[in-house]
Amino acid sequence: MRKAVLWLSIAVVFCAFCVSDALAQDFKKQVIYQIVTDRFVDGDTTNNNPSQSSGLFDSTKTNWHLYWGGDLAGIQSKVSYLKGMGITAIWISPPLDNLNLNIADGSGNPTASYHGYGARDFKRIEEHFGDTGNSWTAFDNLTSALHTNGMKMIVDFAPNHSNPNNAGEFGSLYDNGTFVAAYNNDPNGIFHHNADISDFTDRYQLQYDTLEGLADLNQENSTVDAYLKAAMLQLQSHGTDAFRIDAVKHVTWGWEYSMANTAFSSAPSFFFGEWFQGINDPLYHDSYKFANKSGITLIDFPMNQAIRDVFISNNNFSEIDNQLAAENSNFTWQNDLVSFVDSHDVARFLSVNNNTNRLNEALAFILTSRGIPVIYYGDEQYLHNDTGGGTDPYNRNPMTAFSTTTTPYKFISSLAGLRQSNDALAYGSSAQRWLNNDVYIFERKFFNDVVLVAINKSDTVGYGITGLNTSLPAGTYSDYLAGLLGGLSITVSTGTGGNNPVTSFTLPAHSVAVWQKTSAAAAPEVGSIGPTLGQPGMKVTIAGKGFGASTGSVTLGTTTATVTAWSDTSVTFTVPNVANGLYNVQLANSAHTNANTIQFTALTAKLIPVTFTVNNASPTSVGDYIFLSGAGIELGNWGTTFDTAIGPMLAPNYPNWFLNASMPAGATIQFKFIKIASGGTVTWEGGANHSYTVPTSGTGFVTVTWQP
Ligand code: NOJ
Ligand code: NOJ
Repeated sequence: MRKAVLWLSIAVVFCAFCVSDALAQDFKKQVIYQIVTDRFVDGDTTNNNPSQSSGLFDSTKTNWHLYWGGDLAGIQSKVSYLKGMGITAIWISPPLDNLNLNIADGSGNPTASYHGYGARDFKRIEEHFGDTGNSWTAFDNLTSALHTNGMKMIVDFAPNHSNPNNAGEFGSLYDNGTFVAAYNNDPNGIFHHNADISDFTDRYQLQYDTLEGLADLNQENSTVDAYLKAAMLQLQSHGTDAFRIDAVKHVTWGWEYSMANTAFSSAPSFFFGEWFQGINDPLYHDSYKFANKSGITLIDFPMNQAIRDVFISNNNFSEIDNQLAAENSNFTWQNDLVSFVDSHDVARFLSVNNNTNRLNEALAFILTSRGIPVIYYGDEQYLHNDTGGGTDPYNRNPMTAFSTTTTPYKFISSLAGLRQSNDALAYGSSAQRWLNNDVYIFERKFFNDVVLVAINKSDTVGYGITGLNTSLPAGTYSDYLAGLLGGLSITVSTGTGGNNPVTSFTLPAHSVAVWQKTSAAAAPEVGSIGPTLGQPGMKVTIAGKGFGASTGSVTLGTTTATVTAWSDTSVTFTVPNVANGLYNVQLANSAHTNANTIQFTALTAKLIPVTFTVNNASPTSVGDYIFLSGAGIELGNWGTTFDTAIGPMLAPNYPNWFLNASMPAGATIQFKFIKIASGGTVTWEGGANHSYTVPTSGTGFVTVTWQP
């Protein structure tokens, strides 16, 4: 009897851990709500004008660049409002201690770091958001309220910079209250002292120059490396489930692989980065290479441009369809891309086009199309302030209403539920089924789970839909949104080859209809793995359906992994001791029925950032680049293409080239440098391989001369 009780309680404790592990690593089912903390709700007036930073608060809410009182306690007071909307994760603006001094703007008006992007101490909570003692209490209270309600905490983490380098505190950085350095008092090289970025297509400038006058942290400095990673781990230890990485394109790219790896090595997490770009950006290829290999997915900025072009500016739906097709062929982990309509950096939709039907349609689109949707706070209340075109700061409006009966509140809640119940939305493929300027009908499909979505963005024209096919089996389907956005029922008859004809119907002006079907899995169906790379010992979660209740197996090559948690929809395993490389991970249920495989990269060891320099490299012409290539997956297995070699390297001191790249701790690596000419022709360095032993902690540096 005693023994049974003991076992039972162990099982309960064990399972509590499994569930949180699984949810944290599979973000595909989440619906994220983005909050600018200062502008959401003032839940604690005692932190409004703290003495260490007095004068930065404007109770009259007239200076849009000062603090207005919103705080973590305020967010906590709205957890049930958010939960009722189907929100499963919140992304809060950077909560860490910010610049304490006022900096005047061009017109002499005071400004403050109310948005959070001007940190001074990454180890403490900002006094305006928590309490005047900069303690973690309010943050802890919020994360536990979220977790109690089955919701996740995503922190906006800004490792690129501290605060402005030429005014106020001059970039001053503190480590839990102890001064580290300032931009004008930096004997140990904590900061990069370079000009402002002038060319946003120059890889060196992006990573090493100054963004918007903000003191640029030198992540290769071992003090900075350790500091930022410790700050991130501290956020994890206080319940942070995932990170939105600010200005990910401006932080040292190679170092960021080690940043994410550090977090994944300590606890389940999910990373998405702000890689700002438009459609056809010159560095688009760099962006998807980064997303495919770093373990950090991206916020889908090109798709945001397409969404805004189509729903705001009435462009043809083909723009979205083409962008989707391009990204789906470029991004390995396409369902992990993060999509949005509005954010704190763009004018709110309704400020640009005050058409609430169109906003509804755009939001319904991101909730059903490929990618993890983010709802910017207030969009569900049609919040907008059109001053100055509604751009920053007028897009960071104070939240004024919390109605639970608005149309967006209701359909967000409904579609968030569908993301949970029909795996086609989180894990499925995407196919266009019908398209014209105004109408987009697309299908999401994961094995036999299907969601068909039809959007008509015309304000006036209903379209006759003829010749529409779907994978939905024969039958009649009512609109999942029950007509909330003007949708209606359809009838499907049996066709061939997954093309079942839909009886012609009229899709009314400005409508969204959603039809769906789920089917029990005949065999285990895998839809997700996270993280997508890791070294032996790291915990990794596979998600999907039909895994069965009893434990089966997970295999990498011929090696069976230790499974630490198993449920019908989620399995956590420990990366076994396998050779580094790409694996098609094989899950099987307890009856030995195999699932589809899913790709995973086994690393050699935890990642350490190493700066490689090759002096006097082979001469290059415009468009030629030096790359690094070597033995092992971390060095691209001697790859010689843009996608497989490591780089392009950077040449601020031509013909010397350098690059920071994350390498396996303690390993002795073999490598060479290569030139890849603009046409793809490869020139190898001569001589023997270079060899270097990566340190087991901190940061590494290796410099060689090109061997002709
Ligand atoms: C991008 C953020 O989203 C933006 O709001 C901020 O000002 C810059 N990064 C600098 O941190
Ligand atoms: C525009 C730049 O292209 C982008 O890289 C940068 O992050 C933002 N400005 C900062 O807001």
